[in-house]
This record gives sequence, C-alpha cells and structure tokens, in this order.
Amino acid sequence: MLRIRYEAQETVKLVGAKIMASRQFQEADLQTHHHVTTVARHSFRVACICFCICHFLYVVFKIRTNWQLLIVCALLHDLGIIGRHFKYASNSECYTKHPVDSVDIADSLLGGLDDTARDIIGNHMWPVTPTRPRTIEGFIITVADKYSAMTDFIPMNHRQMLVEAAIL
Ligand SMILES: [Fe+2]
Ligand SMILES: [Fe+2]
Repeated sequence: MLRIRYEAQETVKLVGAKIMASRQFQEADLQTHHHVTTVARHSFRVACICFCICHFLYVVFKIRTNWQLLIVCALLHDLGIIGRHFKYASNSECYTKHPVDSVDIADSLLGGLDDTARDIIGNHMWPVTPTRPRTIEGFIITVADKYSAMTDFIPMNHRQMLVEAAIL
C-alpha cells in the first residue's frame, strides 16, 4: 500500500513536472479548497488516486487506460477555481462553471486539448453537473475527485505543495 502511494507520487511529479512548475499551478497552491487544503494539493492527490485506480484496473482486469493523460488532466482539472470569489457569484455557479474555465486554462497551457482531455476535465464534476463522461478516464477522475474531496481534511493530505517541497 505504501509502495503504490510512493510510486504514484513520484510518477505524478515526473509526468506532471511541466504543469506543476507553471505559474497557474503555483497560484493554485495559494487558493484554499474544501476549507482545509489548496487547489494544487487537492489536484496532486486526485492525480495520484487516478494513477492508483489505473494501476488496479490493469493489474486485476488487464484494462488499459491513458494514465499519463489522466495525470496531466487531473493536475489541471480545478485550475478554473483560481480566483473563484471574484469570478463566481455563488458556490453553485462555481460548481457548474469551473470545469469549463479549467478546460480553457488547460487548453492554453498545453496548446490544445484532444477530446479525451476535454471529457476528463470538462465532465469531472458529474453527477453534480449533468453531462456524463464518455471515456473510462473521464469516469476515473469523477471517482478520484470525490474520494479526494472526502479525505482532504486528513492532516497529511492538506499540506501546501510549496511547504512540502521545502520540507523534503
Ligand atoms: Fe472540480
Ligand atoms: Fe477537484
């Protein structure tokens, strides 16, 4: 269990290095999320959980997924939340609009998105938002995002990314 957790963290850092070094992701580490964590820390955890689910699906069922794309999209899925108090009038507006804004930010950061990436990021709030994901990667992030949201309050899960980098 600890080995897969460590492997997930190291893989996400490797695959997502460019995104994690971006100005937008650094800003996301200053944006509070779920009251106790930051958007960046939550997104990093979602990416790690996605990797673990993909690993499980392959080892147990031999189901292949585009886990590299899923890691990248998980790191980007909530960047639309940055500046939420200025952009959105209410929490419900934030729930429905931040996936759309995250798609736009991801689009500009990556220089274009394919349909799977749009599905993963744009529909990650399902079933809170009505459009169901069309890809297995899109379903995986909906599960990982909810699991992360339920466990973000655990102290070891909500340390700022920048703080952790300074400690390690
Ligand atoms: Fe979200
Ligand atoms: Fe999220």
